[in-house]
Amino acid sequence: MRFDILTIFPDFFGSPLKQSILGKAIEKGLIDVGIHNIRDFALDKHNTTDDSPYGGGDGMVMKVEPIVRAVEAVKGSRKSEVKVILTTPQGRQLNQQIAAELAQSSNLIIICGRYEGVDERVKELVVDMEVSIGDYVLGGGEIPALVIVDAVTRLVPGVLGSDMSARDDSFSEGLLEYPQYTRPESFRGLTVPDILLSGNHQKIKNWRRRESIKRTLERRPDLLEKAQLTEEEKKAIKN
Ligand SMILES: C[S@@+](CC[C@H](N)C(=O)[O-])C[C@H]1O[C@@H](n2cnc3c(N)ncnc32)[C@H](O)[C@@H]1O
Repeated sequence: MRFDILTIFPDFFGSPLKQSILGKAIEKGLIDVGIHNIRDFALDKHNTTDDSPYGGGDGMVMKVEPIVRAVEAVKGSRKSEVKVILTTPQGRQLNQQIAAELAQSSNLIIICGRYEGVDERVKELVVDMEVSIGDYVLGGGEIPALVIVDAVTRLVPGVLGSDMSARDDSFSEGLLEYPQYTRPESFRGLTVPDILLSGNHQKIKNWRRRESIKRTLERRPDLLEKAQLTEEEKKAIKN
């Protein structure tokens, strides 16, 4: 899977893309990430990428031409279908389902806004989907772009050590994940639940499922409406 990130701060991405799961996914050739400086697509000798807003007001707006030219250049270099994402607090809020949807694409272009955002015509001309990472405003789209790349990459086949790891993650089946423990068995009087030391895989599986449902009910009851539950589990929740 190929990601192309359009930004005016290309250096932002150096270290995060070298670490841990993302670094290994790139090393193994499971994903590929291109970083493109929007300034390289500006039309004037000063490589201007922003200007003051029509109608007045504070701040600057990212210009339409450099972004559209950058998207078209990247699209032109790809053979398979390309989906263009604009990072914006006004977009669809990213969740595990959207990440899974995006992981089906072979090419994603992610546009990072700055200042007051991008000229509205960028959306009309080249954007397929507007994505927000939450109801707060960040200084730029670089962190949201990394969030999208990270969330999607985990779902690309072969990226995680075991294909099961992503399946058990919170939200994958509409539930939060069960509590996790590792050594030592006891720490400051807090012990690991006996069942996890029992070696009985079926009982452990059942316990994890129950804990997952319990935790979701306590912390995110809204998720349970869409979760895949058995009739027995639905009854247990009501009681
Ligand atoms: C300061 S924000 C602009 C916010 C814009 N004036 C508004 O109120 O919608 C600059 C850029 O950061 C990015 N950004 C900020 N918050 C974001 C969020 N929650 N999700 C995704 N992108 C975000 C977008 O690329 C945006 O164009």
